[in-house]
Amino acid sequence: MKIAIVGTGYVGLVTGTCLAEVGMDVTCIDIDTKKIENLKNGILPIYEPGLEEMVLRNTRQERLHFSDDIATSIQDADVAFIAVGTPPGEDGSADLKYVLAVARSIGKHMNNYMVVVTKSTVPVGTARKVRAAIEEEIILREEPLEFDVASNPEFLKEGAAIEDFLKPDRIVIGVESERAEDIMTKVYKPFLLNGHPIIFMDIPSAEMTKYAANSMLATKISFMNDIANLCEIMGADVNMVRKGIGSDARIGNKFIYPGIGYGGSCFPKDVKALIKTAAENGYEMQILKSVESVNENQKSVLFNKIQRHFEGDLTGKTFAIWGLSFKPKTDDMREAPSLVIIDKIIAAGGKVKAYDPVAMKEAQHLLGDKIEYAKDQYDALIDADALLVVTEWPEFRSPNFKVVARLMKDSIIFDGRNIYDIKEMEESGFTYYGIGVKP
Ligand code: UGA
Repeated sequence: MKIAIVGTGYVGLVTGTCLAEVGMDVTCIDIDTKKIENLKNGILPIYEPGLEEMVLRNTRQERLHFSDDIATSIQDADVAFIAVGTPPGEDGSADLKYVLAVARSIGKHMNNYMVVVTKSTVPVGTARKVRAAIEEEIILREEPLEFDVASNPEFLKEGAAIEDFLKPDRIVIGVESERAEDIMTKVYKPFLLNGHPIIFMDIPSAEMTKYAANSMLATKISFMNDIANLCEIMGADVNMVRKGIGSDARIGNKFIYPGIGYGGSCFPKDVKALIKTAAENGYEMQILKSVESVNENQKSVLFNKIQRHFEGDLTGKTFAIWGLSFKPKTDDMREAPSLVIIDKIIAAGGKVKAYDPVAMKEAQHLLGDKIEYAKDQYDALIDADALLVVTEWPEFRSPNFKVVARLMKDSIIFDGRNIYDIKEMEESGFTYYGIGVKP
């Protein structure tokens, strides 16, 4: 199998590397020459556990190649994946300009039958536009050229992307011909050894599946955040409620952890885009609109607790923050709750000293000298008036609380991820605030 992947961002790079890992001949293509040069030298544009070693190994074994030249790199490919960005436009809809530009270039340069697969998250109807863009390019050729389009949404989680790709829960592929179905079966067969299914369907259903999956997960989170807020008012403990409902197999125990709102590059963007697509077609996604507004409010709950504790006066107070990325095992800070919390503390006259195991560079890039950067998690605590746990990195789970208390000015913890036990914290002399647990 010869595979071309256009777009070496998160999705493209993980997909290309994992396909090479099982023995396919893969070229990852990007117009960003610098990025391609770096990749050839083993320098990755993103942090993802295990990815760097896998890129190096497959590059050395000449199964994985990098190129900034789409014209030569897609020659003789069996499959071309489009994995470029679909940033939200000002109105929340996904901007397809990069996807369609790649489709045009594939149409211009392809020399044999191939399946052109959209891997980027794209609204229902995009594959049709991709087909039209390619057709426009090949119509003037002397020899007719056949191709198929397909839609293959990805369900990778940042921080666990390789594991998710190598052992997927399912693979969803929208196709319109048997020929394309056969080729896509060959591509994914090596990943189905765990018995999980490859689900073929029509293209619009595959495109919709991606949005429905992310929106359902975002809904679970916002629902639990709403319940958590009510638990606090009613004197219930959401950790207990979560266990109580999660043991019902119909509900399930995953993605029902309350916190300080979902972030990242997927849920916020996809929820917005689905609301927009529906509106454009005369339908109102009432539940998703609430999911979104609950999430916006949730990003402020930790700050509101701080305000109440300090009776509205944060001037001259220093807040230690543990965790800046939107979730553990990534340096991604897109839509991270940390950004909202930091802005609010600073606007209220407080100071922030933060530490994150991998996102320090990204934070410096986004926040500059707005905050102070700690050397390690304990350094962040020196003379802090309170500690805020913002991202649940494993190394924050079991710190030496005696040292924590000694370093801080006052032993107060605002735990935005419920990683500590309220009773244990109070017994160790801390004033503890969690999410959905009685303060
Ligand atoms: C998400 C989906 O989980 C993937 O299946 C999907 O492929 C991906 O988006 C995508 O569309 O590309 P990701 O954004 O990497 O993956 O991160 P998640 O692990 O899903 O977490 C998203 C957010 O939800 C985080 O901010 C996390 O803290 C929050 N979350 C998650 C909760 O607040 N509570 C939970 O119980 C679970």
